Amino acid sequence: MAKTSIAQLFKKKQNQEKITALTAYDATFARLFVECGVDLMLVGDSLGNVVQGHGSTVPVTNADIAYHTACVRRGAPTAFVIADMPFMTYASPQQACDYAAELMRAGANMVKLEGGARLVDTVQALTANGIPVCAHLGLLPQSVNVLGGYKVQGRDAAAADLLIQEAQQLQQAGAQLLVVECIPTALGKRVAEAVSMPVIGIGAGPATDGQILVMHDMLGLNSDYLPKFVKNFLADHGSIEGAVKAYVTDVQNGSFPGPEHSFES
Ligand code: KIV
Ligand code: NA
Repeated sequence: MAKTSIAQLFKKKQNQEKITALTAYDATFARLFVECGVDLMLVGDSLGNVVQGHGSTVPVTNADIAYHTACVRRGAPTAFVIADMPFMTYASPQQACDYAAELMRAGANMVKLEGGARLVDTVQALTANGIPVCAHLGLLPQSVNVLGGYKVQGRDAAAADLLIQEAQQLQQAGAQLLVVECIPTALGKRVAEAVSMPVIGIGAGPATDGQILVMHDMLGLNSDYLPKFVKNFLADHGSIEGAVKAYVTDVQNGSFPGPEHSFES
């Protein structure tokens, strides 16, 4: 299978083909996801929750992400792999470059950071040093202790306008991909139209350029709390492979996410 590149992801956006993404943390699932046609994988700091059993992503370290990135890379040598930069590894541009370099050496193609205008200098520094950047706006789980909980973001006009402005600033600074989490469907559509970089949504409605889910969530393994935007694809498809293929198909043909998985306002 040919190596996925950022250019191919841009082309998909231009051709209005949906981009399919899942989190991955190990070699076996990474290999399966590539075989099922998943376009890109994220070594998410959600591993703090689903792999390590923490209550948030805050305890995850750079070494943790580097370890799981190396595992994913061994299972999927040609895949497009994004590695999350953990909590407090990008408080300054220099710190971000040092930690991101470790993730790139571990096998990442790109790093992802949570935040808006405050990260413009950091995104510039990373890209100037040859480290591709995926931005992340909307709900920022690393800031849960400031936000006071996991809530839908960008619901009022001022917050929505700010999100659009920050997406454009981050793109201008060099970001080549954007994840938006837990925002109303209309804002998901607006942000995808406002930038040329592909926008991947989670709880952001069907109009973004692609979708991502935490793999454990789409396999129905999250027993205690299921966010509205999650669908259990294993329930109707009998095998893990069947579930992943159904997810890929449903994202590509626009049937996932439906209104029942989206925030209308
Ligand atoms: O850590 C993660 O899994 C993520 C996705 C939910 C986008 O950041
Ligand atoms: Na994350």
